[in-house]
Amino acid sequence: MSKNLFSIVIGGTGMLEGVCHWLADEGYDVFVIHRNREKFEAMQNRSSHPKRIHSIPVDYHDDDALKRNVRDTINQVGHSPDLIVSWIHNSAPNALSLILQEVDCRVEPWRLIHVQGSSSFFVKENTPVPKACAYRRVYLGFVMEEQGSRWLSHEEIATGIIKVIKHDYQETVIGTLKPWSKRPI
Ligand SMILES: NC(=O)c1ccc[n+]([C@@H]2O[C@H](COP(=O)([O-])OP(=O)(O)OC[C@H]3O[C@@H](n4cnc5c(N)ncnc54)[C@H](OP(=O)(O)O)[C@@H]3O)[C@@H](O)[C@H]2O)c1
Repeated sequence: MSKNLFSIVIGGTGMLEGVCHWLADEGYDVFVIHRNREKFEAMQNRSSHPKRIHSIPVDYHDDDALKRNVRDTINQVGHSPDLIVSWIHNSAPNALSLILQEVDCRVEPWRLIHVQGSSSFFVKENTPVPKACAYRRVYLGFVMEEQGSRWLSHEEIATGIIKVIKHDYQETVIGTLKPWSKRPI
């Protein structure tokens, strides 16, 4: 296929939409794992480079379909991704490792941006990654305001993750996790 940089984004029709647009502007081909076609097409049409935004329509709870779709995408592009940005709900604990198995044979360095919810910060789980993978972890926090607190907006999340990619931060909290007792409910 093309010689553009290759990224896979999970969550790209939701909170990571701004990241997909930025990556496409930076010259990446962006392959988005999603289920809802209308949401995907609407997001693609908001890109300045819609032809660089591609669909991987699969439910990440379906292990076999997920592996098959990622493998087919890699075969179509001709090499493993240069970058994966992953926002996967805890309901699919195997999904990320199944995706990583498909890129395990890549020898050139590449990056994984692993986006996790606030509560994961206190668990500090170990995520095994392939040898050539630079692992970058991002925790989603919340925002303290005069009247209380609120969760991050999609724009704040996307802006924070773009910063992580640009500056290659290893571990980042977007927003704050303190005081934990004041988090939104
Ligand atoms: N601070 C925190 O800890 C924290 C944690 C979580 C959420 N939040 C807040 O809650 C808001 C909403 O969170 P959200 O998780 O609904 O995020 P979202 O990013 O708005 O939506 C989920 C994204 O993941 C995709 N997706 C979901 N399930 C999927 C599946 N089974 N297979 C394939 N793709 C799937 C969706 O695509 P499809 O719809 O096409 O499937 C969509 O792109 C966020 O804006 C954030 O502010 C905060």
